Amino acid sequence: MSVYNVNLHEAIYSLSDALDLVGVTHIHHGKRVAYMAAECGKQLGWKGQDLDDLFQAAILHDSGVSTTYVHSQLAQFEWEQESDHCRIGAELLASSPLLKHLSDTVLYHHTHWSELKHLDIPLAVKMHANCIYMADRVDVLALGVQAQHQDILLGKDEIRSKILEKRGDWFNPELVDAFLEISNSDGFWFALEGEQISGYMSSWLSHSAERGMEFAELKGLVKVFSHIVDAKSPFTKQHSDGVASLARYLGGLFSLPERSCEMLELAGYLHDIGKLRVPDEILDKPGKLNLSENVSMRRHSFDTYGILKNIKGMEEISLWAAQHHERVNGSGYPYQLHEGELSLEARIIAVADVFQALAQNRPYRDSLKPEEILPILKEQVQSGKIDGEVVDCVEAHVQECWRVAMS
Ligand SMILES: [Fe+2]
Ligand SMILES: [Fe+2]
Ligand SMILES: [Fe+2]
Repeated sequence: MSVYNVNLHEAIYSLSDALDLVGVTHIHHGKRVAYMAAECGKQLGWKGQDLDDLFQAAILHDSGVSTTYVHSQLAQFEWEQESDHCRIGAELLASSPLLKHLSDTVLYHHTHWSELKHLDIPLAVKMHANCIYMADRVDVLALGVQAQHQDILLGKDEIRSKILEKRGDWFNPELVDAFLEISNSDGFWFALEGEQISGYMSSWLSHSAERGMEFAELKGLVKVFSHIVDAKSPFTKQHSDGVASLARYLGGLFSLPERSCEMLELAGYLHDIGKLRVPDEILDKPGKLNLSENVSMRRHSFDTYGILKNIKGMEEISLWAAQHHERVNGSGYPYQLHEGELSLEARIIAVADVFQALAQNRPYRDSLKPEEILPILKEQVQSGKIDGEVVDCVEAHVQECWRVAMS
């Protein structure tokens, strides 16, 4: 297995960018929460790895939110079913060797301090979780002020007194005191604006270096992304896993080097990450999409590229993932590339994507069997859409392809 030089902070940051897309309009929520939590932590004298762990957990705290519906519910100050997304997010992070140490913090990020303080877990986890909870509620209140088209400074006092009301009940008293101390300045609130928050993030990013990651570590991280997107719709459950496995299997049949096969697998997990931006009702629509729905669906592969392109060490993987709707005759999207401009790997991902989607149930049809899929693929080769060589390879191993794509 090979080693990949990837910057963990960049990868986590991109993951948070992907989560941001679910907010559709309420973007940068995770980043604003990370900024406020980190500033409270600094006020309390937290530093080093402790502060970095808090920051990482804070930007990923809503990893359990894939659907635009759940996201819209989180914008309420109190919401009864909030524990579901905590559990889902915690399970997701626990599945990745590089993120599992953040799992408990995410699990308890909506637990009231009055209950949390009695739990038998490390104090640092309790404090991190509660700090994120408080920052999260501050952001929800701040969004409420902005929704009324008011300047944030006009709502500042009300937000501060609402947090104070929950001192000792929802939030740890020390955390509330730290927040009240730092949020007294106007600058604290101005820093929540889009450009400012991006600047704050850049300085966090510049404080980390690339490090060698084993394939298994990188795969664990990447699968967190793919499981968030696949959880968005009951119909796409395991779609990305299936595309990843099939792409890797096809790479092997083409005798590509082991590293390329690994990268094909990673690109398969990531190809649809841009779908996080597509509203639930479009993704789950049982019928044909209308023109404007189609436009918002079509931009997902471009958004996939937008999310991944800044992770150094994953440049090629990002391209293969983002080109999965390009077609060999130039009729695809988003760049209308032609055959000669598409690598074999990109053409493999494109075929794996079509194959896996046909093998799955969809709102408008049942799962198709290998012998039903093959004629459809051949027709797409005839019309110049997908690659003939790749489809010949699928044909020679069609039963195995179906098994790999659906396992
Ligand atoms: Fe949350
Ligand atoms: Fe796609
Ligand atoms: Fe796909």
